[in-house]
Amino acid sequence: MDTSKPERYSQNSYIQYILGVEALQQYMQWEEGDTVLDAGCGTGEICKFISQQPGVASVLGFDVSHDFVSYASQHNSAQNILYHVADVSYLSTIIKPEWRGAFSKVVSFSVLHWVRDKVTALKALHSCLKPGGEIVMIIGTDKSKTLQTYLKMAAHPRWETYLKDFVPNLFPWPSGDLVNHSSRLLEECGFEVLSCHVKEHRHLFESKEKLRDALCAIYPHLHYIPQDKHGEFKHDVENIAREAHLISGRDGHFKITEKTPFVRARKL
Ligand SMILES: C[S@@+](CC[C@H](N)C(=O)[O-])C[C@H]1O[C@@H](n2cnc3c(N)ncnc32)[C@H](O)[C@@H]1O
Repeated sequence: MDTSKPERYSQNSYIQYILGVEALQQYMQWEEGDTVLDAGCGTGEICKFISQQPGVASVLGFDVSHDFVSYASQHNSAQNILYHVADVSYLSTIIKPEWRGAFSKVVSFSVLHWVRDKVTALKALHSCLKPGGEIVMIIGTDKSKTLQTYLKMAAHPRWETYLKDFVPNLFPWPSGDLVNHSSRLLEECGFEVLSCHVKEHRHLFESKEKLRDALCAIYPHLHYIPQDKHGEFKHDVENIAREAHLISGRDGHFKITEKTPFVRARKL
């Protein structure tokens, strides 16, 4: 995940935003006085959306990236939002006395596949929730065509001279047994799983540039590759994404088709 260029992520994370809003609209029921924690809030667009929902009293967004948190504070602030830098898998940064049992809702969208130790992260989020509080997550599995394309580009023979020091740091959820696996993991961390649905979604793009920028919004690969070769690299990303059937269509009618799991659970 590239967190060094928050503006690039903010401008090109249209798909993440649409998915986050869909997850909230389908799986979250707001109640008067809700206190919401957004774990891995990125550049804050979803925190802003949540802060405007009826009943929501406050939102606390945290992210491991200082740059993203700083961007979120400048561009997506509101009176009822606070932003913090914290790492969901380092208990000392997330288990603050004032966060313990303080939140009625937790969301974490497109974050936990970047985290190796999911048990520690889920236990930390569990401890932040009030009893009976709910968590909604969007997770990335090893079947995700987006994540497969990301990993293929990290090992692409044409770019290997540039990418030899690049470590993808991606830890997708196993898809084979998704419902049982995620249920077991969540139950081990003190949650009761309420639903786990895999949804297919489609996004249309009018221009090739917008499509390629959306695909590369999370790509740290670009840091290792000289600027004058970024166009060629993005061209290869598009080709690999086509082979994976992530992209279809041409000339003004590009389509991204992906299946994404949405998980909803309650603190027991
Ligand atoms: C794809 S972005 C999603 C951002 C936002 N949730 C959204 O839906 O637009 C993934 C985010 O997870 C954050 N992240 C990755 N590992 C993290 C960790 N260990 N603790 C907190 N945030 C983390 C990244 O910094 C990045 O902002």
